[in-house]
Amino acid sequence: MSKSRVSDPLVARAREAALGAYAPYSRFSVGCAIESVDGEVAIGANMENACYRLGVCAELAALTAAQQAFGLGNIARIAVAGGNVDADGNLAGEGVVTSCGGCRQSILEAAHVSGRDLEVVSSNGDGTDVRTDLISALIPHGFGPANLEDAG
Ligand code: THU
Repeated sequence: MSKSRVSDPLVARAREAALGAYAPYSRFSVGCAIESVDGEVAIGANMENACYRLGVCAELAALTAAQQAFGLGNIARIAVAGGNVDADGNLAGEGVVTSCGGCRQSILEAAHVSGRDLEVVSSNGDGTDVRTDLISALIPHGFGPANLEDAG
């Protein structure tokens, strides 16, 4: 069965970004593209390390780039795509990649800063299947800045 490609340009940017991943250990490339309220896009990809636990997720890399480019408070939308890089050099893979728990927490922080319930578009590798969720649904009852108000 051939599936049609997803037309969302932000998903295309996330798939492209995944090609810049450094993932020699998992061989699983993830890309993230973050769009600002003004239509600017910041990207990131996962970067692994021989000391496995020091690897960085694509979302965190992209959030850092977004903070530099236009500020967490100006994020409008986030796209994530992951899979393997095929023989033609394209991102491939059937399964939709939804952000890990740590990345959801980091996206939630950006949602708090922006005051918006951010939309996260999650795609499979070959860009034929996506799901769209609000960060509040991906991490319900998340810990946020308000919790720290009780600090002494
Ligand atoms: N990874 C991400 O970049 N984002 C996620 O949300 C899930 C996992 C990366 C980390 C690691 O380099 C590879 O995917 C396999 O876990």
